[in-house]
Amino acid sequence: MDYFRYKQGQLYAEDIEISSIAEKVGTPFYVYSYATVMRHIHAVKEALSGYPSIFCFALKANSNSAILRILAKEGVGADIVSGGELYRARKAGISGRKIIYAGVGKTDTEIRAAIRAGILMFNVESSDELRTIDRVAGLMNRKAPIALRVNPNIDAGTHPYITTGMKKYKFGMPVEEALEGYRLARRLKNVKIMGVHKHIGSQLTELAPFLESAKKIVAFIDQLKHEGIDIKYLDVGGGLGIRYGEEIPPQPAELLANLISIIRPTGCTLITEPGRSIMGNAGILVTRVLYLKQNELKNFVIVDAGMNDLIRPSLYEAFHKIEPVVKRRRTKISADIVGPICESGDFLAKDRLLTRVKQGELLAVRSAGAYGFTMSSNYNSRPRVAEVLVKGNKFYTIRKRESYADLIRHDSIPAFLKTAGDR
Ligand code: LLP
Repeated sequence: MDYFRYKQGQLYAEDIEISSIAEKVGTPFYVYSYATVMRHIHAVKEALSGYPSIFCFALKANSNSAILRILAKEGVGADIVSGGELYRARKAGISGRKIIYAGVGKTDTEIRAAIRAGILMFNVESSDELRTIDRVAGLMNRKAPIALRVNPNIDAGTHPYITTGMKKYKFGMPVEEALEGYRLARRLKNVKIMGVHKHIGSQLTELAPFLESAKKIVAFIDQLKHEGIDIKYLDVGGGLGIRYGEEIPPQPAELLANLISIIRPTGCTLITEPGRSIMGNAGILVTRVLYLKQNELKNFVIVDAGMNDLIRPSLYEAFHKIEPVVKRRRTKISADIVGPICESGDFLAKDRLLTRVKQGELLAVRSAGAYGFTMSSNYNSRPRVAEVLVKGNKFYTIRKRESYADLIRHDSIPAFLKTAGDR
């Protein structure tokens, strides 16, 4: 069931009219449905039940503290890629033992903080990084738990910017190099080998690349076993796609059941790191029509949300459904839906067929709960928008709209530029 649905022509989030939220918080804003988040969490938990596993939500998809609290309360762990995400996860009450840390560029400071937090393991992306973790852990008199990220060289069949498991990209190590990496790890005194990690890309809509890469990793774990290297955790990454338009991705149950049957013979605990499939369709972006404009080539619908608020269309030419918040019987037009940013690349949709809209009316940009707010910026000195959580017939502002003062809060004026007005 879709918790963002129309009742008598009005778009609702669960039991609240979107337009009534807009009246109270202003536009643009993100709104998330609690019931949808819960449903997606439970789908993964259910699919994993009966097999030793750890479910780590990828914070990069949505790291709002209230959203993380929902996940923490459900016992979900975290897949992090920075010291900032570690901080957010810990603040939300996620135990270090359920945190895994990936990313090609971890700094000494970040590594130290993660060791101190007692994370489950580092997903290490190069032998340079492995040596660094060993050195930092040594200085702390600790043993750092590690997995190496193996790059199985499989095409995920998704947008190149969100494909990761191929040799031409910066992520992980090719299988041959990973073997050397594990031999090195075994020699290093301050790291402890825990697992193998892979993640081949995001918004995958087919099972085959997931299964093919899992089989490669299982064979690799066998190879390690022959060398006397024991692996406890197999981290299959995230990447399960969602429905933005017409795609029909596999359900988490189907994906995980298939993965479990491939992994079972290794005896490894399964780790999964979904991000988008938990949050993507649990959120929408609500924006107001500012102006209508046309030339001999195009119709433009100018709205108050721009690429700084939702960059996916501009960056990946990603498709997001856009619907009027109040359904009206009007003819359709084909238009570019664009924001106020001073860039031609600032659009939410191109040549989109939509019901005619008028100035002041609201539009809902669907499937914006993942990689929406987290990728937003202050470009053009636009305050970042509010985030709202709906649960039943109540809504909660879980991040308030930034103010103009917030925009300059961290600027500072050197003495020689100060004027009488400055304190
Ligand atoms: N694990 C690792 C190591 C990852 O790099 C990612 C995503 C995930 C898990 C979560 O993947 P998911 O389940 O969300 O597909 N900004 C892009 C997506 C970038 C994904 C980066 N890595 C977008 O808006 O489509």
